[in-house]
Amino acid sequence: MNNILEIKNLTKSYHTINGEVKTLENINITVYPNDFIAIVGSSGCGKSTILSLITGIISDYEGSINTYDNKIGYMLQTDCLLPWLTIWENAILGLKLTDKIDESSLNRVENLLKKYNLDDFKNKYPSSLSGGMKQRVA
Ligand SMILES: Nc1ncnc2c1ncn2[C@@H]1O[C@H](COP(=O)(O)OP(=O)(O)O)[C@@H](O)[C@H]1O
Ligand SMILES: [Mg+2]
Repeated sequence: MNNILEIKNLTKSYHTINGEVKTLENINITVYPNDFIAIVGSSGCGKSTILSLITGIISDYEGSINTYDNKIGYMLQTDCLLPWLTIWENAILGLKLTDKIDESSLNRVENLLKKYNLDDFKNKYPSSLSGGMKQRVA
């Protein structure tokens, strides 16, 4: 079966005011369709860095990262919702910024909010939701 993600010899250093901090060294990961993978390790070992590299949030690294399926979703550690927008406005923000608002995309958002039990909170602001609810909105 063809893999959907292949990471080879991934090495990443952060450059800080106190010098270079090597965070990842020669990481190799291959992911196949329907794989369920957990990256486990102590705080600060580089888990978030790996995800930021895979999704392109961080773009300087050594080694190679090849994704063969461009449908990558990434739930960040913090939800990053905009506090001055309602749940509905936050949910459609990506569509708005990429000029993809139409009847079918808005229906999809409606259905997702229902699916994740957020329908009753559409007109509320993030501050009135629990941490888990905010992550589901994100
Ligand atoms: N922007 C950054 N600048 C400098 N060092 C960083 C930065 N982000 C993370 N680090 C360092 O890289 C290491 C791994 O961080 P991170 O990937 O967030 O770990 P984890 O998610 O496993 O807790 C830590 O030592 C952290 O201090
Ligand atoms: Mg982390």
